[in-house]
Amino acid sequence: MIVSASTSQSLASSLAAELDEPLAATEYERFPDGELCASVPEFDADSAVVVCATTTSDAHLEALQLQDAVREAGAREVTTILPYMGYARQDSAFAAGHPVSARAVARALSTGTDRVLTVNPHEESVSGFFEVPCETVDAAGQLAAPLPDLDNPVFLAPDAGARELATTVRDAHGEGSVDYFEKTRHSATEVEIEPHATDVGGRDAVLVDDIVATGSTMATAVSHLRDRDAARAFVTCVHPVLAGTARTRLARAGVEAVYGTDTIERAESNVSVAPAIADVLSK
Ligand code: R5P
Repeated sequence: MIVSASTSQSLASSLAAELDEPLAATEYERFPDGELCASVPEFDADSAVVVCATTTSDAHLEALQLQDAVREAGAREVTTILPYMGYARQDSAFAAGHPVSARAVARALSTGTDRVLTVNPHEESVSGFFEVPCETVDAAGQLAAPLPDLDNPVFLAPDAGARELATTVRDAHGEGSVDYFEKTRHSATEVEIEPHATDVGGRDAVLVDDIVATGSTMATAVSHLRDRDAARAFVTCVHPVLAGTARTRLARAGVEAVYGTDTIERAESNVSVAPAIADVLSK
């Protein structure tokens, strides 16, 4: 039985359809003191697949509560899907006295599940923080699907870490070159990007990254492309976090369209990762 957290309702529904599994009814209460209670009053199955994008602190709690609720209701096997794993970018202690937050949340989530699946985590190594088997699902190949017809495209990663992702999207699209920018991050909202060698003049550019959060990385990269007379600029990513004023920032930078997947439910989530997750679950 598929159990959806409030953050992953579309994806959980698509996954239930994909796997031909029933979708549990979930209920939410918030007590007067502010505490949450997520429950599955009619859950009745031997195994549960809890789907929860941990985009907020409440969502982390909801995942823990749903894991516990299905066990209470009799599930003997629990799989937890973290389509977007929050805190994964805090994969090391940034300074003395800082936590390794990705490890802390992974440990907590491991206590209520037999297995974890996560989609394109920021660093593959975070899967090692879980204390149960954790597999990663690669959704990059699907990012090319919503792209329009492109003229002599160049696929660009805004940093070296996203080069493989950009290459996968180019391969799935079928034509174009691949390059990347050198990025230095100065703060959570300020990045410095150095131009790359490829001549982008008159060409359509597709910027590919795992996450678009504040949009600073993409907006800075697009401004370089504008300076170098690229034609249209499109942004595609696995996880459309799009925090705060990211959309305005991207629009002001001259981005034609932003595409993302349903690992996080946003207006830009026009690709579903349900088939890729279903493939891994059915193996
Ligand atoms: C970092 O290396 C990631 O791949 C993304 O580039 C980053 O998370 C994007 O963040 P923002 O949109 O805030 O620049």
